[in-house]
Amino acid sequence: MKITPRLSSIIHLVENCGSVADIGTDHGYVPVYLIENKICKRAIASDVNIGPLNIAKDYIQSRKLSNKIETRLGNGLKVLNSNEADIAIIAGMGGLLIADILDESKEVARSIPFFILQPMTASDKLRKYLYNNGYEIVKEKLSKENERIYETMLVKHGEMKISDDINFEIGEKLIQQQDELLIPFIDKKLSKISIIMDNIKSNSNETVKYKQLQEKHNKILEVKKAYESERHN
Ligand SMILES: C[S@@+](CC[C@H](N)C(=O)[O-])C[C@H]1O[C@@H](n2cnc3c(N)ncnc32)[C@H](O)[C@@H]1O
Repeated sequence: MKITPRLSSIIHLVENCGSVADIGTDHGYVPVYLIENKICKRAIASDVNIGPLNIAKDYIQSRKLSNKIETRLGNGLKVLNSNEADIAIIAGMGGLLIADILDESKEVARSIPFFILQPMTASDKLRKYLYNNGYEIVKEKLSKENERIYETMLVKHGEMKISDDINFEIGEKLIQQQDELLIPFIDKKLSKISIIMDNIKSNSNETVKYKQLQEKHNKILEVKKAYESERHN
């Protein structure tokens, strides 16, 4: 089983549980690991596409775990009934899709105490959705794989406090928990913004966008400086 750093960051956020649901399981590595290592007692592995679900099914069978991991075909949390899962993992999808999955099944979502969310894109929009919809980020962890840095969040129902809008972009828990990849993560963001700014600098139609990016760049730089000076004190 290939437990890469990205998958490992998901697994490390799972505390002992009765039943875990892995939504969009694909290969099925995560539920198999959680059951084989006795972190969870039972699992539901779901996928909206039959191809990946069959791959997961074969893998689960090959590990002789079909009695503990049930596979279900379907969209998002719609494969679950209320109170079926103690924790739902939604990883490896865009942040907007993850927010849609939570939003489309509010009743089931309310019955799940914990979520592990790993957005591949638009993590700021996902954090904003969580903030506006009664979710609280308990922990966050960064992981690095093939030069890409991934954000993984442990989320529960509750009230989330946000000190500044820039913390939708850079999760406050990453700062509080002094994540070891925080500085490289911030530097990647800064360089991405700089590249876009360079590309649109001479285009007069993009003046507003340029200013917005400049503002964002400055705010992220402020976060970095404050973090560095706090760490050195
Ligand atoms: C990139 S894979 C990620 C697999 C695994 N969760 C991981 O993190 O390695 C995304 C998987 O999510 C599935 N998927 C996409 N949209 C979905 C949805 N709305 N509900 C359930 N599964 C979905 C895809 O079919 C695909 O197998």
